[in-house]
Amino acid sequence: MAQFNEKVAIVTGAGSGIGFQIAADLAHANAAVVINDIDTTLAANAAKAINQSGGRAIAVEGDCSDIAVIDRLIESACDTWGGVNLAIANAGITTFGNFLDYPVEQFQRLVDLNLRGTFYFAQRTARQMISQNNNHSAPDSTVRPGGRILLMSSVTGIQYHPDLTAYAMSKAAIRMLAKSLGSELGKHHINVNSIAPGATMTERTMEEDDYESMWSGLTPTGRVSTTADISNAALFLLSDAAAQITGQTLVVDGGWTNVSPPP
Ligand SMILES: NC(=O)c1ccc[n+]([C@@H]2O[C@H](COP(=O)([O-])OP(=O)(O)OC[C@H]3O[C@@H](n4cnc5c(N)ncnc54)[C@H](O)[C@@H]3O)[C@@H](O)[C@H]2O)c1
Repeated sequence: MAQFNEKVAIVTGAGSGIGFQIAADLAHANAAVVINDIDTTLAANAAKAINQSGGRAIAVEGDCSDIAVIDRLIESACDTWGGVNLAIANAGITTFGNFLDYPVEQFQRLVDLNLRGTFYFAQRTARQMISQNNNHSAPDSTVRPGGRILLMSSVTGIQYHPDLTAYAMSKAAIRMLAKSLGSELGKHHINVNSIAPGATMTERTMEEDDYESMWSGLTPTGRVSTTADISNAALFLLSDAAAQITGQTLVVDGGWTNVSPPP
């Protein structure tokens, strides 16, 4: 497994699900991790679990569609560990609804987090990484130049899925954001990629009846993804082994998008 010694990571929406798995795996690979979640208890428990298992984590709660919260995450990483090397924009809202009567308020909440939150998290963390590049010649600087930004798209940003039009649109935009930023930030040694998970078992999806059996039946590999499947791909894209990969979206879906059977 890749090692992330001396790397500082921020993971949004990391109190549970895919985000928690990425944060825990990064911590076990020696990164120091800022855990963000809108749910204070989930954030605190996630950081506690990582610290108790020998990792380094702090919890910073807050809604990361709020730019003040994003700035606070970066400040906390800098105050505690001296900078930010790995920025994982994982938090996203999935809301189902018929296109013809999709409520405006729901649309706004989704766009606020999935688009504005992701965009400004990438912008603010990129600014921090660039400022670290500029200060790198300082003799006491331990933070390495450049960085990695990882965004969370979805297979629904690639293939149609019923009642997910607004969500799908936001996740398609995230793929394009990764492509744009990969080009924009290359000169600063910042790689930007995204992952497009397919159906993945998390605390949230487990609440849906028949989720696992339905998606296992529709997936060529015969099973839904685990959070570890997504985290393994994330750690690869964040590692030195992926240094020449930028602007890409890695689909992790057991082959569902290859055949796209309707749910
Ligand atoms: N689980 C899947 O099957 C799946 C599939 C494709 C894409 N994704 C994407 O992967 C990411 C993680 O998915 P998940 O299923 O683990 O997420 P989830 O819905 O289970 O949420 C994970 C965490 O995010 C937190 N959160 C929610 N809103 C927040 C906000 N505004 N600010 C900070 N934290 C917030 C929640 O409290 C929760 O602890 C999302 O972007 C999602 O769209 C998930």
